[in-house]
Formats: sequence, structure tokens, C-alpha cells
Amino acid sequence: MIQEKKLYLETFGCQMNVSDSEKIVGLMKGIGYQQTPDPTHADLILLNTCSIRAKAEQKVYGHLGKFKSIKRKRPHLIIGVGGCVAQQEGERLLEKAPFVNLVFGTHNLHLLQEMVAAAETGKRRIETDFLDDEKRFDLYGVADTDSGFTRFVTVMQGCDNFCAYCIVPHVRGREISRSAGKIVEEVAALAASGVTEVTLLGQNVNSYSSKNPGEPDFPDLLRLVAEVDGIERLRFTTSHPKDISERLIACFAEIPKLAPHIHLPAQAGSDRVLKAMNRGYTSAEYLGKVAALKAACPGIQITGDMIVGFPGEEAGDFEETMALMEEVGYADLFSFIYSARPGTKAAEFPDLTGKEEKQARLERLQTAQKKTTLERNRSMEGTIQEVLVEGLSDSKDSLFGRTGGNRGVILEGDLALAGKVVPVKIVEGLQTLLKGEIVDPHGRE
Ligand code: SAH
Ligand code: SF4
Ligand code: F3S
Repeated sequence: MIQEKKLYLETFGCQMNVSDSEKIVGLMKGIGYQQTPDPTHADLILLNTCSIRAKAEQKVYGHLGKFKSIKRKRPHLIIGVGGCVAQQEGERLLEKAPFVNLVFGTHNLHLLQEMVAAAETGKRRIETDFLDDEKRFDLYGVADTDSGFTRFVTVMQGCDNFCAYCIVPHVRGREISRSAGKIVEEVAALAASGVTEVTLLGQNVNSYSSKNPGEPDFPDLLRLVAEVDGIERLRFTTSHPKDISERLIACFAEIPKLAPHIHLPAQAGSDRVLKAMNRGYTSAEYLGKVAALKAACPGIQITGDMIVGFPGEEAGDFEETMALMEEVGYADLFSFIYSARPGTKAAEFPDLTGKEEKQARLERLQTAQKKTTLERNRSMEGTIQEVLVEGLSDSKDSLFGRTGGNRGVILEGDLALAGKVVPVKIVEGLQTLLKGEIVDPHGRE
């Protein structure tokens, strides 16, 4: 009898990593590993790591400490570290954590099966080379996930923008786009397996195929994907404000399947700070794009990211961030205190603002956003929303779905509605959720 081997996988960071982890599960199944939620019973522990802020990186070392003690009791246990911290640290990781057996960078998933097989025979290995061709997309199709009716499809990887604060271009490498033909092929295969919603994924999807003359650009790619039978709803993330074109904005009016939501991180509201961040737009330009989006798609839900306490941000700059935020009226905003990352340009900038002042700014911003989010959720009461039912709610006694604008909704109904878009009347807007009632209990069919 073949003994079943157990994989414990933990994922940190962004949707890129979530999507990579789905591939890791598929790859490891291919060599006999089944996932377990319990690290103390694992034969293989893999960490897919994030280094976007110092805290994210520290977490990895904290976890490794715990796994070291498991390994004392289970000497055959293989421990591997992948993702952005692995890419950044490479060899150093093995020095800091000598009990780690393998380190794989962000472009090396295709080597993972043979690396684990080598570790089973006692060999340690590090692979962190960047690949500059489509090889890094070759793994698509191996993803193994129970995320049901909605999936990510990677359209590009890497980033060439080099925002002054950001580690991503350093750990994900240069931007490269996947061919449209392969993307459409994957979406069609997903649709055939019952998936109804896809989110096209990239660090900066607006510049999709800008280096591949002859390939469709992003607005045309959206049209191609929208034509795939069975796909009812289409999303994409993330957009860089400097690259969002009039043609892309028009897609929200012209492609009915394109959901009325955009994640459009501003990062700051002060032109001086935006310039120091190397973002390539002014606050007026950002607000102009927001106005154009609202005109093309009334009711569009806009979410964003904001950094507080960037080096040199003064009280007046922060007020401009607050003003921009109020003007946009974000449905949701992810906000962070600036964290200096090794090797980035901003890490060399003098940073004179105290920790407490930064914390106070963040709290002010978050309190204001909470109020906006609640007001916006309440203003949806009484409206009818198209909700894609994803499955059971966390409490398992209701259904959970999302509006086109990406707001979570709790509703009563039959689990057989999972995967379907149903009209839902919003009866209550809460802080993080909406409550709704299905208008037509049989859904659309
Ligand atoms: N590619 C995405 C962002 C990925 S990182 C984009 O360009 O929109 C997600 C968010 O983390 C960023 O939008 C930014 O707000 C935040 N972030 C990135 N680097 C950071 C740093 N050094 N300190 C604090 N926040 C940071
Ligand atoms: Fe980072 Fe800027 Fe690239 Fe986004 S666009 S991943 S913030 S460098
Ligand atoms: Fe983190 Fe890497 Fe994503 S640094 S945010 S996991 S690209």
C-alpha cells in the first residue's frame, strides 16, 4: 500500500500568492501529498511568503520557529519556503533557518516537484533564478482548489513600475504577459468545469501585452474572455491609475459581463508625495480617471490602497490624502503605515515623522473610511443587486454571495443556487456585509 504523505501549506500575501498556492497543491498532489490542516502531522511543510511590509516578513520567521520544534519530533519532516521572502532572502534564509530543506523563488514553481523529491532523499536545494519567458506560465492547469465557481486567471506577472516604496518589482521580476490564446483556453476550460466568474490577475493589468506587439491589449483581452460561453461575470485586478486608458474605462459601459468594480490604488493624495513615490500621476489626474469611471458606469464601486507616513509626508500632505479619499468615496480602502523595504529607493529617504504621528494619521483615515463604507452599505438598502452565490456563509447557516460591485451579501436560499447570479433585494447594510433576500427564489433558470 502506498502511504499517503501529508502537506501543510500556509500562504501569506496577495492574490498572486493565493493563486500560486493553488498550483502548489496541485503539484504536490502529483507526487503523492494530500493537504492537512495540522502541521504537527505533516511530512512536508511549505510556506508561500510575502515581503511587502517588514511585518509580513517577520511573520515568516515566527512561523519557522514553530516548525523547527515540530521537526525535532519528526526528523523526516521537509520544510520549504517559497514566494517573495524566499526570492529576496535566498541563501540567507538557509543561514538564518538551517533546518529549512528547500527555498524556491517566485519563478521556480515548475521545479518544485523535483526539489521535494530531492529533499526526500536528503538533498537541500535553492532555486531563485528569474525566468524571462512564458515558461513561468506553463504550470497553468495544475491548480487544485475548492474555490468553486470563481477563479483567478493570471494574465501577467512581474512589475516594471518601481514605485519607490515597493519590493514587488524586486521579488517578482520584470513584467511579462501571457499570450491571449492561452488565457482564453484556460478560461474556456474553467467554464467547462462549471466556473462562472473569473478574475484576471496581474500586478498592473492595464499594461497587459504592452511588450507583445501583435497581441490584443487589455480592453481587447477583456472582450475575448467575455465571449467565453459559461462565464457570467468578469473582474480584473490590479489597475495602475497612470495606465488606465479611455478604452479600458469604456469597457465598463460596453461589456455587460464586466462587473462594476475597480480596485484603483491612489497611495496618496498629495502631488509632492505621489512624485516622491514615483507613481506617475497627480491627484487631479487620478480624480479625473475616477470621474470618467463613474460617468461610464454609474454605481461603480471603487476600492483602493493608501500608504500613510511615506518619508517626507507632512501634516498638510496627509490632509490632501484625506480630501482625495472623501472625494472618491471608496467602497473599501486598504491602508498601511509605510514600511521601509531593503533595496527600494524610498528606503534611503530620510524619514523624520514619528511612529505615533503615523499611527494617529492611519487611525484618522481608517475611522473616516469606516464611516464612508457603512454609509455606502446603508445606501444600498432597498436596491436590487445581481448577486453571484458562492456557497455557504462562514456560519454555514446561510448563503454567501457577492454583488457586481464586490460587496459580500448574506442571504437565505438553497445551496443549489451556488454558482448562479440571482437578483437580491438588499434589506440591511452593515459595516462589512450586506443582508439580502432573493427576489426570485428560483434564480434565473
Ligand atoms: N500591484 C499592486 C500593489 C501590490 S502591493 C498595485 O500596484 O496596485 C499592495 C499594496 O501594499 C500597495 O498598493 C501599497 O498600498 C501597499 N504597499 C506596498 N509597499 C508598501 C510598503 N513598503 N509599505 C507600506 N505599504 C506598502
Ligand atoms: Fe508595487 Fe507599484 Fe508595481 Fe504596484 S505598480 S506592484 S505598488 S511597484
Ligand atoms: Fe507580497 Fe509578493 Fe504579493 S511581496 S503582496 S506576496 S507579490
